[in-house]
Amino acid sequence: MGPDGQKKLALITFGCQMNKHDSEWIAGLLDDQYQLIDDHKHADLVIINTCAVRDKAEQKFFSLLGRLKPLKNKTESLIIGIAGCVSQELGANLLKRNPIIDFIVGPRAINTIPNMLDNLARTGEPQINISDSNIFEEYPMNRDSKYSAWVSIMQGCDNHCAYCIVPYTRGLERSRKPDSILKEIEGLANNGYKEITLLGQNVNSYGAKESDGIDFPQLLRAVNEVDGIDRIRFMTSHPKDLNDRLIQTLAEFEKICPSVHLPLQSGSSRILKAMSRGYTFEEYSSKINRLREAVPDLALTTDIIVGYPGEKELDFNQTLAAISQIEYESIFLFKYSPRKGTPASIMTDEVPFNVISDRFLRLEKIQRVISKKKYDNWVGRQTEIIVEGPSKKDPKKQSGRNPQNLMVHIDSDIDYTGTTLRVSITGSNMYSLKAEVV
Ligand code: 5AD
Ligand code: SF4
Repeated sequence: MGPDGQKKLALITFGCQMNKHDSEWIAGLLDDQYQLIDDHKHADLVIINTCAVRDKAEQKFFSLLGRLKPLKNKTESLIIGIAGCVSQELGANLLKRNPIIDFIVGPRAINTIPNMLDNLARTGEPQINISDSNIFEEYPMNRDSKYSAWVSIMQGCDNHCAYCIVPYTRGLERSRKPDSILKEIEGLANNGYKEITLLGQNVNSYGAKESDGIDFPQLLRAVNEVDGIDRIRFMTSHPKDLNDRLIQTLAEFEKICPSVHLPLQSGSSRILKAMSRGYTFEEYSSKINRLREAVPDLALTTDIIVGYPGEKELDFNQTLAAISQIEYESIFLFKYSPRKGTPASIMTDEVPFNVISDRFLRLEKIQRVISKKKYDNWVGRQTEIIVEGPSKKDPKKQSGRNPQNLMVHIDSDIDYTGTTLRVSITGSNMYSLKAEVV
């Protein structure tokens, strides 16, 4: 506890943007009781927001949990809570095997955390809630950034890609009501936010299950009307649901940023079928062509899984060819990791680990060259950034992102935090640009 008597909360977050945003929600829920701090060693409450998407993320969490043991033994009053996808996946078993845990909460029960803490204080008994009890329409947020905000527009996922644990941990898809989304965004604009990112596991199917609602292009149009918001981003898009109306909307409205994250997963249509992705490479590629025709200067990023069961050298070569053909600004590369309960986890034709590692490196090498070329192309051009603030390591360096979502660094003695700046690109690093203020 601090000298002011306020208890301290440390939040450690693994995984995707959705999880990071959930952590902002958790911090918001506990805002009146706890002060947020960085160093968990000084905390009264440590909450780990976990990710289960790959084994590696899960192992990182378990090793952190192991490191918390001595701290818990030393400070009995320390409360340890586990949130996120591993909580949902393992539930009571996680508690049974790790008695240092005081409460477990799934991603669909986040709003019950204050209640669980009360119950814990009253009874001293460990608490668990992995039910579907989120009230999703209005919720308190304690956001990291003061200029750029994530706004959740839907929860869960209905796609059931054969490798993916998300539908099991985050549940089936449901969309938030447009009114509450717009109210939140108007509130953000009034508080000085300039950029918002609409978040969902599959934003393109926003509103698809709600008969009275609006769809994603219509939602984008409505958000475009909010005064004060200069930039609109969204993630993640599923290629099978990205349609021409969305492409048209992207082309039409200047506030919608020319950057799309469109997970390809594999360049082999045979593997895409085995993954139950619902599109062929040819269909994907033709959507990319239409996107690029409609939106000049579009930046593209993607996710690729290497070594999916049954992936032959021929399939992998098709992925290499796809990457070379499309030329993404950057890609997120993952080694396939079997997840219990998913259809892919019982497939027998696994790719040996050394082959996966070799393919991973080959793909990475090719992408490095492409990314370098893409970033180099910016040198000599002008662009606009919203400055997030000085770098922690070097206060003379400040960073922001341009509409294409590329990271841009400037050197300046003036603190430009929160300002929209026109800059001229003077150089490029791997995955960032250097610039001077115009
Ligand atoms: N193994 C490896 N990568 C995976 N992803 C999802 N599930 C798995 C898995 N079982 C990747 C996909 C997805 C990204 C968020 O994580 O590429 O788009
Ligand atoms: Fe996000 Fe998926 Fe990880 Fe859950 S399992 S935190 S949804 S990446």
